[in-house]
Parts: sequence; structure tokens; C-alpha cells
Amino acid sequence: MQQVRAVIARAKGAPVELVTINVPDPGPGEAVVAVQACGVCHTDLHYQQGGINDEFPFLLGHEAAGIVEAVGEGVTEVAPGDFVVLNWRAVCGECRACKRGEQQYCFNTANATQKMTLEDGTELTPALGIGAFADKTLVAAGQCTKVDPSARPAAVGLLGCGVMAGIGAAINTGGATRGKSVAVIGCGGVGVAAVAGAALAGSSPIIAVDIDPKKLETAKKLGATHTVDSSKVDPVEAIREISAKTYPGAEGADIVIEAVGRPETWKQAFYARDLAGTVVLVGVPTAGMMVPELPLTDVFGRGGSLKSSWYGDCLPSRDFPMLVDLYQQGRLDLDAFVTEEISIDGVEAAFERMHGGDVLRSVVVL
Ligand code: APR
Ligand code: ZN
Ligand code: ZN
Repeated sequence: MQQVRAVIARAKGAPVELVTINVPDPGPGEAVVAVQACGVCHTDLHYQQGGINDEFPFLLGHEAAGIVEAVGEGVTEVAPGDFVVLNWRAVCGECRACKRGEQQYCFNTANATQKMTLEDGTELTPALGIGAFADKTLVAAGQCTKVDPSARPAAVGLLGCGVMAGIGAAINTGGATRGKSVAVIGCGGVGVAAVAGAALAGSSPIIAVDIDPKKLETAKKLGATHTVDSSKVDPVEAIREISAKTYPGAEGADIVIEAVGRPETWKQAFYARDLAGTVVLVGVPTAGMMVPELPLTDVFGRGGSLKSSWYGDCLPSRDFPMLVDLYQQGRLDLDAFVTEEISIDGVEAAFERMHGGDVLRSVVVL
């Protein structure tokens, strides 16, 4: 066991605290990782606000990269000294999804079995089974994905959650490729990552939609060919017009990604989609939101598919090393997502800055 600094949320809505925690030595199938960088995500804020569940105290942080310090019995996939990005999809290999070759849908993903605790022994709930606003964290070995050790930790750690969700929503879930048009509604961290994913896949046009002009500027930097301020113009009309310029007769974009998580923007995505196109919901709705009323004839008549994307349907072992390599080659600008590097005592202030809309990601560097 060792003691390290960590950021916890003790009770619903209370400001986060920097405390000392106990990290057990790794048991069978587990690894202790010395965290180098961890991004501040909306999900951490949702945990602190009690929006995920009531299992306080939470050990926050989950978009992280670091060095494996020690591994437990039976661990073969990583070894001490490996540079890894942490994931929340350590696949089991045994469930029905895994057995049919669809590990990205694994129904039985693993976390560490032992618990990290406060000094008084109170068990902590790590955010998304990771808990990486800490000098060290204990995870299941399968949550560690080895990547190019020369990559910048603050940038590649972001692949652990939001950036992967966006890139994967475009490529894995939406099937973005050359010859297809893509529109993204909502260009926060997840949405601009979807824009970057569509650009990587060679899609064109790539239409970015937001109500905040600053977000649209960032989307342009990451590969949007067109931007639409939906506080000023009807985004459905705009997406149809822009798509039809490249593909005459198109009645919308082939793939429309909703990265806000609201019924009204999902409805825009539904109608901004070409016949037989795909809608991808990657924005996370909150309890009580309902699917908007739609004529069933429109659902049938427009064909295509309406999908949801959890974690960008990623398979960390396949996607993380590939995306890190593209980053290292200058083909995926992960640095653009790092608005600022902060220290471990800056998480509460970073939560406040999230509301301002100027920050894509604040990243705690340890
Ligand atoms: N139309 C278009 N864009 C909108 C609208 C709207 N009606 N309302 C909000 N937006 C934009 C915001 O301006 C912002 O740029 O959506 C974006 C949301 O981005 P963030 O708040 O930064 O959230 P992000 O981290 O990108 O996550 C997006 O996925 O992980 C979930 O909880 C998260 O539901 C959220 C979504
Ligand atoms: Zn499985
Ligand atoms: Zn996250």
C-alpha cells in the first residue's frame, strides 16, 4: 500500500478536495499507474453534482496517461515502465458480445477488484472505474493501453474519454469515409473531436453547427469545411444546402452527429440527414428527456439508421495506438484540445471555467 495525493468529491455539490488516499499494491489482474496527465471532463463534474449516482466519495479524473509502476499476478499485457492511456473499456473476452467478435460492445468490462480508500479506510468510487486526479491509481490491467512513449501525456490522455467518443462517433459508429458528407451539431470537446474524426476519414463536406461562434472557429481548425451558427440560421436548411452543393440532389448530410445531448438538437439531426443516412447520438441526455415526436412515416420513409454511440464504439487496444501514431505524424491535432495545463489543486476552478465555454479541456499535469 502507498499514500498519494488525490482529488475527491466527498458529498453532493460540495467543492472537490485534495486529500491523501491509500492505493493498494496491485492484486491479480491489476496495475498501479503513476499518472502523468488527466483531463477535466464534464462527467467528473456530473459525479461531483450527484448526477451519476450516490456512491460518494468519488475519486475523480478519468482521461489519463501515465507509466505503469507495478502489476499484479497473472498480468501479461503490460509491464512496469510501459507508457499507457487509461480506458474504461477493459474487455472480458467471455461475454456474448466478446464471443461474437464485437468486443467494443463488451457487457462485462473490468475495473480493479481492490478498493482505494481515504486514510480512515472509507472506500472510494473511482470515476468511470479509473480515478486519475491522483499521483497513482489502481486499475484493471486491461484498462491500460500501451502507446508510443514519446507522445505528450496531456494530449494523448484525452483519448481516454471525450476525444475518443467524438472521433469514434464519426468513424466507428457513423461510418464516416471518403465520399460521405458529415454534419456535427454541437462543437464542444466531443463535437470537434467528431469533426477531426470525419476529417481523418476523408469525408467532405464537414459541416460544424453550434450556437457559439468561438466553437465554430475551433471546429474550422480541426477540419470543418463549413460552419453554421444555429442561433442565427436554421441548421437543417443550412446542412441541406451545403450538402447539395457537393452532392446535387442530396437532402442532407450522409452522417449527422448530435454532440449536445438534447431532444431538439437530435430532431435537427434527424431532419438534416439525407435519405438512407445515419444519425449518431453521442451527446449524453439527462433523465426526463424524451425522444421528440416524429411522424412514424418520416422514420420509415427516410430509411437509414438512428444510432447511439457509447465511447465512440471504440476498442482501446485497436484505436488508441493508431490514433497516437496519427497524432505523432501530425495528422491528428490532439494538442488543439489542450486549452491549458493546470496543477492538481486546480480542478474546482477548472469546473467553473467549463461553464464559460472558452475551454476545450483543462488538463491536470502531475
Ligand atoms: N445547438 C447547437 N449547439 C449547441 C446547442 C444547440 N441548441 N446547445 C449547446 N450547444 C453547444 C455548446 O455551445 C457547446 O459548444 O454544444 C456544445 C456542448 O459542448 P460541451 O458542453 O463542451 O460538452 P462536450 O464535452 O463536448 O460533451 C458533449 O457529450 O459527454 C457528453 O455530457 C456531455 O452531453 C454532453 C455532450
Ligand atoms: Zn466481454
Ligand atoms: Zn470523460
